[in-house]
Amino acid sequence: MSHIKKIGVFTSGGDAPGMNACIRAVTRTALHFGCSVAGIKQGYQGMIDDNIIEMNRYSVSNIMQLGGTILKTARCIDFKTHQGMQKAYDNLKKHNIDALVAIGGDGTFTGAERFSGIFNIPVICVPGTIDNDLYGSDFTLGFDTATNTVIEAIDKIRDTAESHDRLFFIEVMGRDAGCIALRAGIASGAEAIMLPEKDTAIDDLIKTLEDGAAIKKSSSIVIVAEGDKNGGAINVAKKVKEKFDFYDTKVTILGHLQRGGSPSSFDRVLACRMGFAAVKALLNGETRKMVGLRGNNIKFIDLTESLREREFKLEDDLLEMSTILA
Ligand code: F6P
Repeated sequence: MSHIKKIGVFTSGGDAPGMNACIRAVTRTALHFGCSVAGIKQGYQGMIDDNIIEMNRYSVSNIMQLGGTILKTARCIDFKTHQGMQKAYDNLKKHNIDALVAIGGDGTFTGAERFSGIFNIPVICVPGTIDNDLYGSDFTLGFDTATNTVIEAIDKIRDTAESHDRLFFIEVMGRDAGCIALRAGIASGAEAIMLPEKDTAIDDLIKTLEDGAAIKKSSSIVIVAEGDKNGGAINVAKKVKEKFDFYDTKVTILGHLQRGGSPSSFDRVLACRMGFAAVKALLNGETRKMVGLRGNNIKFIDLTESLREREFKLEDDLLEMSTILA
């Protein structure tokens, strides 16, 4: 028998498609096992502000297909202070919350690790970020949907690029991780992909584009991850234009449209699996772990280890292939 009687669930950091499906899974799994559930709104900010609601099975009806997060989210500075954390803890106690499921990215996990260490409250983290940049899980919630959104946008841009014989620079999200850029680039046949993890010299990019022109490519698409060292798509386009001025160049920054939309089947099922596993883990006495997907199996990894380790998630075969197939 677990001593946990009430679980608090929240989303924090950048929203990601699949968060709602995960909130639903956490709520319904906890209720199934006889626990009550509280929804903490706006992540750590709501914990501090006592923005906490009771959840029942109807609170999560018909949310599986929705992007964003019904619990809302925030990036909270106050939670970095001891005073902020103390307020948050007092509010959790006021609502009799004895354990937490935190859905978010590395900022969320860092907060959860510190908080659970200081106040001894059990926590399981679920990786929810479109960036796919967390150690210990092959995929994070929202990455698949965001990549599909990007591909759909690039396909549309390709139509007009081809019609006008233009060179497009398309900036996608990913400050530190090029996972979206790489997969979307491969799936849309981009001529070049610029990633934060890999320095691309402008001269090399120009050589690639010249090689394309030599084999009569009339349009080209260059995907630039926002964290690429050359400083984003606008800067890359400017530098290329200086040396490659006969090309008609355009820049599109996809921005926050990448974070919205209905989750893909992959993200929905992953969200259900992770939410279900997170609650079961808490009830089995686990704490300070992240639930992850490894080779289609649900696995847990120590939270501190997941934060300490960095994983180069850009598979070598994808990197090699991306240049050859383009
Ligand atoms: O972490 C997800 C993410 O979308 C990143 O890809 C991006 O760099 C960042 O969030 C943008 O954050 P914000 O919406 O706070 O500007």
